[in-house]
Amino acid sequence: MKENYNFYNIIKSLSYAMDLVSKTLVGHHKRTAYVSYRFGLKLGLDTKEMKKLITASLIHDLGIFYLDQQYQDLKFDNESNYHAEVGYKLLEQNSFDPEFADIIKYHHHGYPNNPNQLSSIIHFADRMVVLILDDKSILNQVDHIKKVIENNKERFCPECFKIFSELIENEAFCLDIVSEEVISKTLDNFFEDIDWEIDLDELINVSKLISHITDFRSPFTAAHSQGIAAVAPVLAEKYNYSRSECKEIKAAAYLHDIGKLIVPTEILNKKGKPTKEEWNILKSHTYYTYQALSTSPKLNKIRNIAAYHHEKLDGTGYPFQIDEKKLSLSERIMAVADIFTAITEDRPYRKGMKKIKLKRF
Ligand SMILES: [Fe+2]
Ligand SMILES: [Fe+2]
Ligand SMILES: [Fe+2]
Repeated sequence: MKENYNFYNIIKSLSYAMDLVSKTLVGHHKRTAYVSYRFGLKLGLDTKEMKKLITASLIHDLGIFYLDQQYQDLKFDNESNYHAEVGYKLLEQNSFDPEFADIIKYHHHGYPNNPNQLSSIIHFADRMVVLILDDKSILNQVDHIKKVIENNKERFCPECFKIFSELIENEAFCLDIVSEEVISKTLDNFFEDIDWEIDLDELINVSKLISHITDFRSPFTAAHSQGIAAVAPVLAEKYNYSRSECKEIKAAAYLHDIGKLIVPTEILNKKGKPTKEEWNILKSHTYYTYQALSTSPKLNKIRNIAAYHHEKLDGTGYPFQIDEKKLSLSERIMAVADIFTAITEDRPYRKGMKKIKLKRF
């Protein structure tokens, strides 16, 4: 049976996972997406443009995670383009719509040097959102936000500035932009009636992109998901899996460590064995893989294959302690592929075992 997946749900998974990296980032992408959405409505953008605007906003800073860059770029006065360029390259190399890649590329280009209307909106929304402090009532921050934006008026597109000047006077708008519930509901409602279906091959492409973000944070895991994505489908083939089932496994392999964004790089790259406390943080990654991929019932099968890779037949695995009665063959294949790949890779505290050559799927 041909399965289709909703692109928005996959982007939501990535957006969720990116929030795990740092407390400074929690809600940043969603908030930016929501503000962009409100600007887009005022600008009268059509559905096609709105779709692009929201999804691009939801992942606009993806380049920041590459090689674990620091987050100075999130500060209002810092408009470094480096992470935007990296995000652009990541999207471009993973066969994303070039228009989508361009939106990310220009999201720090100020007025009048921004050639892309959607990027200008994200630029404005993003700069506005970074001014918000979570430990203070938003209504008590309005004057400050207005002052800073007005002082930097020439950096922003005049149309966006006009919309901002109207919206910021509306208390409900201000309260909406800090309400996680309103933001999620609004964005979900917008996409509810829109089909933005992608097939398994496209899902593999997005998943591969996600694996770059999760794996490249540490040189020790730089090719980890790629390795599993090569091994697991070969094992599945041995069990006479159909071509599309093998592809599901491949997508799950690319996604299996998405929850690793919760683990700080100091732990990932630590020389020597992790302490008990560090090990507990490491162990939580599959829980977050499960949560990140819980964005649609259609993704559940792939989510389970991805998230159960540290469960064991005798129920002593983690974090769900699922045993052989519940673990499907695909989930077991993923666990074996993960162990096999991991023992062939170097870790800060040991050398990898000698690799053997496998036929690529
Ligand atoms: Fe950015
Ligand atoms: Fe941003
Ligand atoms: Fe893992």
